[in-house]
Amino acid sequence: MLVLNGPNLGRLGKRQPEVYGSTTLADVAARCRALGAELGLEVDFRQTDSEAEMIGWVHGAADAREPVVLNPAAWTHTSVALRDACAELGAGLVEVHISNVHAREPFRQHSYVSGVATGVIAGLGVRGYELALRWLAEEPSSAGR
Ligand code: DQA
Repeated sequence: MLVLNGPNLGRLGKRQPEVYGSTTLADVAARCRALGAELGLEVDFRQTDSEAEMIGWVHGAADAREPVVLNPAAWTHTSVALRDACAELGAGLVEVHISNVHAREPFRQHSYVSGVATGVIAGLGVRGYELALRWLAEEPSSAGR
């Protein structure tokens, strides 16, 4: 299972802690890997600030029919290219946002990704990642949406 993180999420912990909390991305990765071990899943956790790299990872997941947890960060609101890549995914896709994007600035209230995601978790802090992994692990239909 892939957990993919978009731009600026490598700054988690330091970046606007009043919005995103004080947990670092390394902590989130460790929690996801520990949960994966508990659930019997291998969790491949990645972050990039490069849109091309992210799209390449999504293509790889599409080819492997691998379920994906994706926090597209700012690309949520800007990237038709990332949406098009996600539309090709054959297994479950859970879009995760740490903050409640619907309670923030108007430009954050539209997601290009949501229309091609299986489901969306927003506003539950970094726990959203673990909830997404649990859902993908438990939901048989996530293996072929
Ligand atoms: C975010 C919300 C986005 O609007 C923002 O650009 C991010 C993080 C979140 O996890 O709450 O970088 O995806």
